[in-house]
Amino acid sequence: MMTNDSKQSDDTILDSGRSASTSEGSSVSPVLSDAGKQPKDQTADSRPGSGAAQTLIEIRDFNSWYGDFQAIHSLSLEIPRHQVTAFIGPSGCGKSTLLKWINRMNDIVPGATAKGHMQIRQDEGRADLNILDPSLDVVSLRRRIGIVFQKPNPFPKSIYDNVAFGPRLHMRLTKSEMDELVQWSLQKAAVWEEVKDRLHAPALGLSGGQQQRLCIARAIAVGPEVLLMDEPCSALDPASTLAIEDLIFELRSQYTIVIVTHNMQQASRCSDKTAFFFEGRLIESGDTEKIFTKPENKQTDDYVRGKFG
Ligand SMILES: Nc1ncnc2c1ncn2[C@@H]1O[C@H](COP(=O)(O)OP(=O)(O)OP(=O)(O)O)[C@@H](O)[C@H]1O
Ligand SMILES: [Mg+2]
Repeated sequence: MMTNDSKQSDDTILDSGRSASTSEGSSVSPVLSDAGKQPKDQTADSRPGSGAAQTLIEIRDFNSWYGDFQAIHSLSLEIPRHQVTAFIGPSGCGKSTLLKWINRMNDIVPGATAKGHMQIRQDEGRADLNILDPSLDVVSLRRRIGIVFQKPNPFPKSIYDNVAFGPRLHMRLTKSEMDELVQWSLQKAAVWEEVKDRLHAPALGLSGGQQQRLCIARAIAVGPEVLLMDEPCSALDPASTLAIEDLIFELRSQYTIVIVTHNMQQASRCSDKTAFFFEGRLIESGDTEKIFTKPENKQTDDYVRGKFG
């Protein structure tokens, strides 16, 4: 049933129970790339509404199951490079499921299976990478595609070591470069001021909201190409939420970001594109402004106006 050569297969079927390569322990992908850590200035084609974005991840006719239960039905969606895409929709509609397939986190969920197409563009001259290829090295995939979960999951290490974990594995940095990267990451994640005097204290001693910001710092420290964020602000206070939204807005000049959110203001504030899901199906997607002001589908309209969900 599994297809090993994605290039020859038009329809990859992935059965996580039988997939060889899982990497428990890298729940936030430790290192995705050593691409420069400092975001560049916004480029012209990454501005909202410029319409010039290229597709980075292409999802086509994608289906997924937990055992016999089909969680996602024939979903097609393109995720543009260097933009923020928001996934919205009522609880249980499949947002997290899709997010977790994008970096193959569902490999560690027993009984999770998928069928369809999900590809990420590579550098010029290299064929697209089939994310669902059962023989794919998921560890290196997760070096490119990082994920931040709704529930913070710091490692049982110090604050400093959490952020330095990925860079230590994959980058050759001097002590002062590492210090600088740790500080930069914690500052970007809006938690530096609260932890700078106790960097070597256990991360698990932080509050939930601080832990979440630490996990965001850990994810960005390695310069991922794609950052997937599943309700990253749900445990944060309003000030930290705004700081994270600023971060998302800033990072999109360099990274491609997908954010799942139940907060309609947040989706409209910080995303370029919005995809509305309902009962495992993609109902509508497009420019965020259009989805929030002139959606084509009545269900979308009702949802963004808060009439259900
Ligand atoms: N590990 C699992 N095993 C079985 N069913 C699951 C599992 N994870 C999710 N599901 C089911 O798949 C469907 C989609 O779940 P998913 O977590 O993707 O929804 P969601 O849109 O992220 O919801 P929420 O907004 O509540 O986080 C739901 O019906 C859920 O019960
Ligand atoms: Mg979810």
